[in-house]
Order: sequence, then C-alpha cells, then structure tokens
Amino acid sequence: MSSVLEIYKRRNISFANGLGSYLYSTAGEKYLDFLAGIAVNSLGHCHPHVVNALKLQSDKLWHVSNTYEIPEQEQLAKRLCDISFADYVAFVNSGAEAVETSIKIARKYFFETGKSKKNRIITFSGAEHGRTLAAQFAGNNKEEIVGFDPKVDGFDQVPFGDIDAVKQAINEKTAAIMIEPIQGRGGVRVASNNFLKLLKKLCDDNDLLLILDEVQCGIGRTGKFFAFEHAGIEPDIVPVAKGLGNGFPIGACLVNKKVAVVMKPGTHGSTFGGNPLAMAVGNAVLDIISKKEFSEQVQQMGEYFETGLKQIQHNYPNVIEEVRGIGLMRGIKLKVDNVKFCDILFDYKLLARQSGDNVVRLLPPLIVEKKEIDIALDIITKTCSKF
Ligand SMILES: Cc1ncc(COP(=O)(O)O)c(C=O)c1O
Repeated sequence: MSSVLEIYKRRNISFANGLGSYLYSTAGEKYLDFLAGIAVNSLGHCHPHVVNALKLQSDKLWHVSNTYEIPEQEQLAKRLCDISFADYVAFVNSGAEAVETSIKIARKYFFETGKSKKNRIITFSGAEHGRTLAAQFAGNNKEEIVGFDPKVDGFDQVPFGDIDAVKQAINEKTAAIMIEPIQGRGGVRVASNNFLKLLKKLCDDNDLLLILDEVQCGIGRTGKFFAFEHAGIEPDIVPVAKGLGNGFPIGACLVNKKVAVVMKPGTHGSTFGGNPLAMAVGNAVLDIISKKEFSEQVQQMGEYFETGLKQIQHNYPNVIEEVRGIGLMRGIKLKVDNVKFCDILFDYKLLARQSGDNVVRLLPPLIVEKKEIDIALDIITKTCSKF
C-alpha cells in the first residue's frame, strides 16, 4: 500500500529514466512522451545543455536568501524582459504561485493608485490557473472547488470567447481580466486573435489590467515565445512556469513598469523563488528556446503534426470531431470517450492526456523530430481504428 496521499489517479507504471522524447519504464519499456510532463519538459528529457547547467551550478551554490542579490536571477530576469513586454520579473516556484503573484499585483496596483474598490478579476469558464485557494477559485472548476469553502472571493467568471458577456461583467469594481490565450486543461481551446485584441481594447477603455496566463501555452510551445504574440497585443502581467524549468520547479511573474512600481519590499516574497539552481536551469532553457531558429522549428513541426492529425480526422470522422491548437500545443476533440482513447494510446506506448471538452491533449517536447511525430500519428491512427 502506498503512503503517498491519493490526490492523483495514477497509472500503474513508473519511469526510471528519460532521453529526448522518450521515457523508459522501470520494467525496461520505451514510451514516446507526447505529454512532456504536461508541457514541462520542453527540451525533452535530460537535455545535455540543461543537465550541464544544473550540474555546474550544484557545485557552486544552491540557495541564498532573497535578501541578497542573486546574479543568476538578475540575468534571467533581464533576458525575459529583453525578449518581451516586461520590465520586471518576480520569481516563484510554480504556476499557481505565479498566478497568485499576478492576482496580488493587480489588486495592489489599484489600491496604491487610489482605486481600492477595483479589486475583482474577470476569468473564463474552463480555465485552469492552479490549485492554491485563490487560483482554484479563479478557475472555478466544479470538481476542484467543492468542499473548499469559504470561497476566495474576487472573481467573476464568464463563458470563454464571449465578448458580450465580458462587457456585461465589467463594472466599477473590475480590476483585471485574466485568461489563458490557449486553455490547456479546458480542452486546448484557443482564444482567437480577434478575441484577445478585443479584450485588450476593453482593458484600455475601462482602466483594467490584462493578465495572460502563459503557464502552459508559453515558453515557445506555440512557435512564438509567448502565445499572445500571435495576436500582436501587449499584456500588463504574465505568469509563466512549466516549460521555463524543463522539469526543475520554477515560476515567474512578468510585469510592465506601470504595475511594477506598486510592489515595494515586503509586499511579496518566497523562500525558494529564484534560487540559483532554478535560475541556472531557466537560463539554460532560454539559451535554446529564445533562438529564432528554434521557434521556426517548432512552427514547422507544429504544422507537420497538424496536417497529419487533420488527415486522420478526415479518415476517421466518426472518431475525431476537431483538431485544435497552435504549434506543438495540440488537441483532438473526440466523438468517442477520451479516457478510453488515452488508455489505448498508452497500450501502444504513446503518452498523452485527456482534458476538458472530451479532448486528448498532445504536448510533445519542442525538440520532437519528424520521425517521432510519424510514430505518434501511426499510433493515433491505430487507436482510431479500434472504435
Ligand atoms: C494555465 C495554467 N496556469 C496555472 C497552472 C498551475 O501551475 P502549477 O501546477 O505549476 O502550479 C497550470 C497547471 O496546469 C496551468 O495549466
């Protein structure tokens, strides 16, 4: 019997090691990983550049308090700012914490600018912002929030993609709009460029902040460093995590100058956030993912994958209803049971995961090769033929 608290439904398998797009089970079997730790292992398993950076740093320094300067942190913050809208970065340890930081900054911004009544945030149905109390109530998924009252107040949820509902929800208490440009857990639902542009305009017109949760869709996954870049808009606050650490725990909240000025010493903090080990890894990840050629490769592989998936949809219209996503963040909406579909993929040794809206999420590492996509497409075809 396991002594690990049963907060996950686990498959009866464990992995001993991983390399690139593959994981190897303790029983010695090889699995093609098209989940990448749910959009975490962007550079695949044990990428030599990242492994080396961690090894080098682990011989030098693991942890110092954030009350001292941490050069590796300065470097990563500067690099993230140089490639984005951001002027400052706060480091934490996870996606949920990065979201919490974003919520705190939005509330503090209006408090410090004399508009303390503005403290509510509009969120969207199907959202996933993490599992801390506030992030969970921001997401408002029924199965996640039941039993955790008293509710963390301050969120007004509207249907995803419904601009009229957003307009109606805005009132004198609204501080911000928070949205994932592509919902992951919600079913790889893409917010259209037009919708994101309209949200940005609503924020400008109504003195609201725009928070774009890029924890899952960011850090190169869509073929641009941030998914919102496809819409050509500039947010105020962006939480990131997952892919930035390639498996090492990390979270970051990127902010522009306008909101950054309200965050003074003592307004936020984290013991481990931004520690030298995480920063060494983050910098190594950025060495690779921030390169233009890398993004182009992700775009090409993403298009190749999409074409293949659409061909399968064409061949199995009774199984696949829709192919969704951008770059290497893909989903197939099914007409059959998505859990059963994932079980069959697993039997064929392809790792993927069900998500909301009866979708199967396909999130290969960004270093995935054509021949690995071909293997995945072959397994997906074989799986479709079982229905
Ligand atoms: C969009 C989004 N935001 C936040 C989170 C929470 O991240 P973490 O699990 O690192 O706390 C997730 C996790 O899946 C996510 O997909």
